[in-house]
Amino acid sequence: MTDESAPKTHASLEIGINRAHPARMYDYYLGGTTNFDPDREAADAALTAFPTLRTTARENRAFLLRAVEHLARSGIRNFVDMDTGIPAPGRNTHHVAQAIRDDARVVYVDNDPIVLTLAQALLTSGPRGSTAYINADLRRPESITQHPELTRTPTTDEPVALLLVAILHFIPDDQNPLDLLRRLTGRLPSGSRPVISHATDDYDPQGWAGLVRAYADAGITVRPRSLHEVADLLGDREIEEPGVVPVSQWRPTGETHTDPALVSCYGAVARKT
Ligand SMILES: C[S@@+](CC[C@H](N)C(=O)[O-])C[C@H]1O[C@@H](n2cnc3c(N)ncnc32)[C@H](O)[C@@H]1O
Repeated sequence: MTDESAPKTHASLEIGINRAHPARMYDYYLGGTTNFDPDREAADAALTAFPTLRTTARENRAFLLRAVEHLARSGIRNFVDMDTGIPAPGRNTHHVAQAIRDDARVVYVDNDPIVLTLAQALLTSGPRGSTAYINADLRRPESITQHPELTRTPTTDEPVALLLVAILHFIPDDQNPLDLLRRLTGRLPSGSRPVISHATDDYDPQGWAGLVRAYADAGITVRPRSLHEVADLLGDREIEEPGVVPVSQWRPTGETHTDPALVSCYGAVARKT
């Protein structure tokens, strides 16, 4: 339990461990150790409301890595990972991309200082590619698109994979996620690939209403969206096969298919024409 009366140290205030944060809650669902009491308390409340949330997290992460592999094999070598998350041992965007293209460049973005600190320490590139890190908030897209790490690259005319995986459901309607996506992708070259995954309450509205309350109690807004709402976020961009589908059904590699109702998360890879 967190002792609210305890004096808050300068360091704990800076990295925000006195309140729950989506990155550390997600790390807890995935069985990681970079999480603290407020994260675990909020995550346990969310798990009570929607008990298969750990499956959601695992399937979402697997989707992210399959999408990266697919795009690297399709010839993409520039990746902007808009919400890095706590690094997973040996299985992050640049590991997967550089295993296919050793010259892949990955810019990691997040607004959680713990994520960025760990990313700088752990997400280091192979010799032919590169990794970089931006501490920025998706809700201020120009702070990302105009960041020197993105504008100084010598390959600004090459298509970019823009990974927005499990982040847009933290953007409520009044913050206009459609406009954020437009501003993020506006200057990207043709052939760029926005990748999204997004939580949905299509399968279990009651469970997700409880989950939304659990996050709200921890000060975090979650806005699950329907299949149509998620497809609408992608506007009139081309969507690669198999379209907007539950993440577990997006180009699955194994024989077994997790029930989409247990996952409750859609994924898609779009293409800017
Ligand atoms: C659920 S995790 C997903 C991590 C990773 N994309 C994945 O799918 O495995 C959500 C991530 O989004 C980050 N995040 C949440 N809101 C953000 C914002 N407004 N700007 C930047 N990052 C944000 C969190 O810090 C966290 O790392």
